Amino acid sequence: MRQLRIRRATTDDARLLFRWANDPAVREAAFNSDPIEWDDHLSWLEGKLRSEESVILILEMDAVPVGQIRFDREASSDVWTIDYSVDREFRGMSLGKEIVSQGVEYLVRQMGKVRFSAEVKKSNVPSIKVFEFNGFVLESVQSHSVRFARTDGENSF
Ligand SMILES: CC(C)(COP(=O)(O)OP(=O)(O)OC[C@H]1O[C@@H](n2cnc3c(N)ncnc32)[C@H](O)[C@@H]1OP(=O)(O)O)[C@@H](O)C(=O)NCCC(=O)NCCS
Repeated sequence: MRQLRIRRATTDDARLLFRWANDPAVREAAFNSDPIEWDDHLSWLEGKLRSEESVILILEMDAVPVGQIRFDREASSDVWTIDYSVDREFRGMSLGKEIVSQGVEYLVRQMGKVRFSAEVKKSNVPSIKVFEFNGFVLESVQSHSVRFARTDGENSF
């Protein structure tokens, strides 16, 4: 049985997050596909880790980090946008489904009532499946992307 654990990211994860951020499939899935520079990454990460408007979590399988999920709160709202990825060596093992499921659960435990929003390229079939599997509903359709949403916590029904 694999052991899965989700935990907060720290500055010790800077190199790992940098490697994942520059993975070709991750740049391809992103809306800004430019490669990321180390110095920019480090100051960006330090800002995110300090901010109460962002939460970065790492999923570990048998104590090995296998993916990251980041929630960023939209300005003055209870909507958190989602960015996530799974290490290329560990794709196709349901860890995408798992990291969104555990990440959402973590955030609801911390924040109470929350809404989630995620924009996904139409070409990103695995990610569309991940959000559908996790009970997200299609909120809107743009020319090259779709937006998924989900509401959790108090008064969500
Ligand atoms: C999207 C991503 C996180 C999915 O992670 P994953 O661990 O491979 O996903 P899962 O194993 O949970 O699979 C989810 C579904 O996609 C399918 N899938 C996985 N890889 C696939 C591929 N290369 N082609 C087609 N379908 C694929 C799985 O079979 C599964 O479908 P099912 O529900 O019908 O069984 C991973 O591909 C990734 O990191 N991509 C780059 C970053 C990215 O796209 N992030 C999301 C931005 S919105």
